[in-house]
Amino acid sequence: MLLHIDPLRGWIAGSRRGSGNVRAGYGSAALALLVFAACGQPDRQLQVVDSAASPAGRADPALGKQGGATAAASIDYVPPMDSAMPAGPMGASIRRGLALLTHTTDSLPAFAPGNIQCVSCHIEGGRRRNAASLAGVHARFPKYMDRSGAVIPIEDRVNYCFTRSLAGNRLPNDSREMQDTVAYLAFISTGVPIGARVAGEGMPKMPALTGDGTRGAQLFAATCTVCHGVDGQGNPPAFPALWGPGSYSIGASMAREERAASFIRHFMPQNNRGSLTDQQAFDLAAYINAQPRPDSPGKSDDWPLGGAASDVPYDTKGHKAFRPPARLLPRANARGAIVPPPPSVRRTGAGLR
Ligand code: HEC
Ligand code: HEC
Repeated sequence: MLLHIDPLRGWIAGSRRGSGNVRAGYGSAALALLVFAACGQPDRQLQVVDSAASPAGRADPALGKQGGATAAASIDYVPPMDSAMPAGPMGASIRRGLALLTHTTDSLPAFAPGNIQCVSCHIEGGRRRNAASLAGVHARFPKYMDRSGAVIPIEDRVNYCFTRSLAGNRLPNDSREMQDTVAYLAFISTGVPIGARVAGEGMPKMPALTGDGTRGAQLFAATCTVCHGVDGQGNPPAFPALWGPGSYSIGASMAREERAASFIRHFMPQNNRGSLTDQQAFDLAAYINAQPRPDSPGKSDDWPLGGAASDVPYDTKGHKAFRPPARLLPRANARGAIVPPPPSVRRTGAGLR
């Protein structure tokens, strides 16, 4: 069902400068479309949909009825393609950003020492719906994250993935590589109003199931080893590691059984997407997440106000670890693995020059 757009007109009408990224609905005259009259670009439209009938499911046959990860009203947004990247220095920065997401370990071995790239999870340069999609992400920051108990900038969020999902090191926020990354993320958010949700962001929530690691092991041997290897180490750079020193850390969202099950259910095996049942995806997630993987220093400080999801595999305030991995592998640079919340300079004056 479509939501009426009026309450949103204020901020949608206030946003401008889109470079396309428009989907003109699904052929139904009943769809409420907002024309960017204010921008003088009547062909540019954003459509607000609600999650119950999110077109994300229709856009991706592998998702069946599961499309639409977002609870609030969301925009049916299609991020621009590479061909829309501008010329000149800005375009060069955006292209470098995409290259960093795609070839992370080759480009930044000191920061991404493992066998997993940003695009190993953020499929198609973060443009694939429901694969932890990054479309529109620039408009979602600054953002309050209950895991950190702080409002954080997008650079810190990128660094959560460097330090946890890649089990690597924090990239300096004022480095050119960080700015290139953010330039690309802004590019695939072109035209999305600040604070808006877009259809297919994040990963779809799964039904409440529990995996069986023994069944998962059998299924893994039959279905996954051809690309990820019998020992889960992958075949880098094309096929990422699922566990061991080159894979994601215990502090990554993917180390949670339900989150991994969602990714596996919809996107794996890569040569036959959508072929697994929900239960099989949970069985595989239980097996994979039980294997040894890099530690995530400082993880017990997560969710400082409590409220961790039930499948978080380590102890936090008010939460007992759910099925922690067999063994945690020490990190070479524990300090580089932590992204502290933004400190206040009010009393200290730190940073004054
Ligand atoms: C192991 C899988 C994995 C890898 C590798 C990974 N990420 Fe993520 N990333 C996630 C997941 C899962 C989320 C959370 C998505 C959600 O549910 O909102 C996320 C979230 C994000 C977000 C915030 C999205 C939002 O809407 O708030 C950004 C930005 C991001 N990742 C960037 C990166 C970058 C840049 C890299 C490479 C340096 C990277 N990620 C590598 C899995 C991964
Ligand atoms: C045909 C090769 C292939 C097969 C088979 C395959 N994968 Fe993958 N897998 C990939 C590729 C390539 C990626 C990176 C994302 C992408 O491009 O789809 C990936 C990414 C992943 C990721 C996220 C990144 C990471 O390193 O953790 C997980 C988890 C995963 N696969 C699990 C599985 C499971 C479980 C199976 C068996 C059901 C499986 N894969 C079968 C190729 C494959």
